[in-house]
Amino acid sequence: MSTKLLLLLPGDGIGPEVIGEVRRVIDALRAQGLKLDTETAPFGGASIDQFGVPITDEAVAAAKAADAVLMGAVGGPQWAKVARDKRPEAGLLRLRQEMEVFANLRPAICFDDLADASPLKRDLIAGLDILIVRELTGGVYFGQPRGIETLPDGQRRGVDTQVYTSSEIRRVARVAFETARKRRGVVHSAEKSNVMESGLLWKEEVTALHAAEYADVKLEHILADNCAMQLVKAPKQFDVIVTDNLFGDILSDAAAMLTGSIGLLPSAALGEAGKPGLYEPVHGSAPDIAGKGVANPLAAILSFEMALRLSLGRADLADKVRAAVVAALAAGVRTPDLGGKATTREMGDAVVKALA
Ligand code: IPM
Ligand code: MG
Repeated sequence: MSTKLLLLLPGDGIGPEVIGEVRRVIDALRAQGLKLDTETAPFGGASIDQFGVPITDEAVAAAKAADAVLMGAVGGPQWAKVARDKRPEAGLLRLRQEMEVFANLRPAICFDDLADASPLKRDLIAGLDILIVRELTGGVYFGQPRGIETLPDGQRRGVDTQVYTSSEIRRVARVAFETARKRRGVVHSAEKSNVMESGLLWKEEVTALHAAEYADVKLEHILADNCAMQLVKAPKQFDVIVTDNLFGDILSDAAAMLTGSIGLLPSAALGEAGKPGLYEPVHGSAPDIAGKGVANPLAAILSFEMALRLSLGRADLADKVRAAVVAALAAGVRTPDLGGKATTREMGDAVVKALA
């Protein structure tokens, strides 16, 4: 098998710390036959400080040329006053758009050893395994017109545009149906077709695609607000949830907390087959604990696991990484987000040890 290329974008806050543990996992897997080169590029605030922009054209080109991209996190209070279009978050949005990674897979899985870490009762979440498929390169995040203008009467007016085309809806719905086929075969499509035109189009396009190609998958339509409620009421009713960019942002944070720690959740953003995927832990840069060596590296390690599976053609090694994470948790290693005292390094050690 040929050597693959992974671009690392450690970014800001706890990003470099958690990516550091991924590097150690990669080293451990190289000893087991992984052929992977890595490159690193500055991203987010780290890139602003060095180059004045949150991502450089070179870094974007490197991302497109790699087999997969793994980022840590971006943002922090240091860059709060930077012009809007130069903020760390703008770099992330540019990267998603340029890589054309339109389908964002955000799993929320409850590890058996952590079933008591959830704010919900154990029986509601034990065995939980749901996947949110969030549309990532369209909708209100990118729709035009947008901006803040001053009206003749002196008032100010802020505008964002929620817009979807049928092909944008269908390509992300297709990912949801395909993924559901390999899981429990149920897709919930969440929108606000009761009030939004784009929501109505979403519902119609998903319905049509389902009828034409995926009748073997069970499709349920759900209003996004009800979906939020059902997620905290009876989350195990869901298998795959497909939804737009903004609802997906919100619903995936809610789903993340079901598992007790956002420090555990990976994500993958995928484009057309054969294009590089963008992998990121769902947690942010966590400036409050940055540099203290206590961040949980498991979300980053599990994001790398998803990269092995979905972009690097090594599902066998992905299974090993997954098993090593389960073993580390079973051994009782807990970072502070999970109520323990283990450091980032110690959690990484436990995973690397289990891999050996
Ligand atoms: C996420 C984040 C981003 C988003 C921000 C940092 C731009 O909240 O990945 O969920 O809104 O997409
Ligand atoms: Mg978010």
